[in-house]
Amino acid sequence: MDYQLELQRALDAARPVLGTGRVADYIPALAAADPKSFGLALATVDGEVYGAGDWEQPFSIQSVSKLFTLALSMATGGEAVWHRVGREPSGTPFNSLVQLESELGIPRNPFINAGAVVVTDHLLTLTGDAGRSVREFLRAESGNPLLDTDPVVAGSEAAHGHRNAALAHFIASYDNLENPVEAVLGHYYAHCAIAASCRDLALAGLFLARHGLRADGSRLLSRSDAKRINAVLLTCGTYDAAGEFAFRVGLPGKSGVGGGILAIIPGKGTICVWGPALDRAGNSVGGVAALDAFTTATGWSVF
Ligand code: DON
Repeated sequence: MDYQLELQRALDAARPVLGTGRVADYIPALAAADPKSFGLALATVDGEVYGAGDWEQPFSIQSVSKLFTLALSMATGGEAVWHRVGREPSGTPFNSLVQLESELGIPRNPFINAGAVVVTDHLLTLTGDAGRSVREFLRAESGNPLLDTDPVVAGSEAAHGHRNAALAHFIASYDNLENPVEAVLGHYYAHCAIAASCRDLALAGLFLARHGLRADGSRLLSRSDAKRINAVLLTCGTYDAAGEFAFRVGLPGKSGVGGGILAIIPGKGTICVWGPALDRAGNSVGGVAALDAFTTATGWSVF
């Protein structure tokens, strides 16, 4: 298959929908993104990377980071994380508070904001620095030593993070945080505000396509844990649009409000797409359309 040609075709097919989305502005530092930016990268399990469009331009990875916090906390702490967070789709927006009270401070899944706050707290306890753990993992897997947290975005998130602070305090009221709320939120913003390109993220996600193996051949996760993360990505990785994403794309994937989506093709590779214009669920409109076009043309899917 001519990967390069298929990537370009997917971008070209999806470009017309970019105008139907809106850039996230509830984090003011993200509002400056150009809604016409668009790129995608494909990395194969043997580490080859192909790209089209703006695939080498760094963007704010936001909730795509939640995939890595979960993987690192499972790699370091084993099963323990599942005592504190569930693994069912929420059917509610990514920053919703409504289920937390009836479910006694146990977030539905690790990919909504409430769940990611708990996983970040767990990783902070396990490693002493959750933000740094995610950054170092991304640097090692992508081979990009310059990859870093954007302090302007992290500061903007903290300054406008009333909803996340509310979620975190509410969770703490049910004794489901081990560290002070301010510290947990600081680490949560530190990993959400990492700037990385489609190339970087496609390479960094390959451990899930390799059934748990890192770029250097060492094992991060058991095959079973890699399967579990892929399963939760499929059912919860794109929030209350996870059904639509599975229908159109048929791959495990994680989106972020910076406009990135990282999708895993187990045994084959990863695709990361970036387009900052979002649909109402907070997923990149161009990103979903490009993945739809690519998977339909190539037949790459878990189904
Ligand atoms: O906490 C927030 O709201 C952001 N740092 C991350 C949200 C996000 O990316 C949701 N994804 N679509």
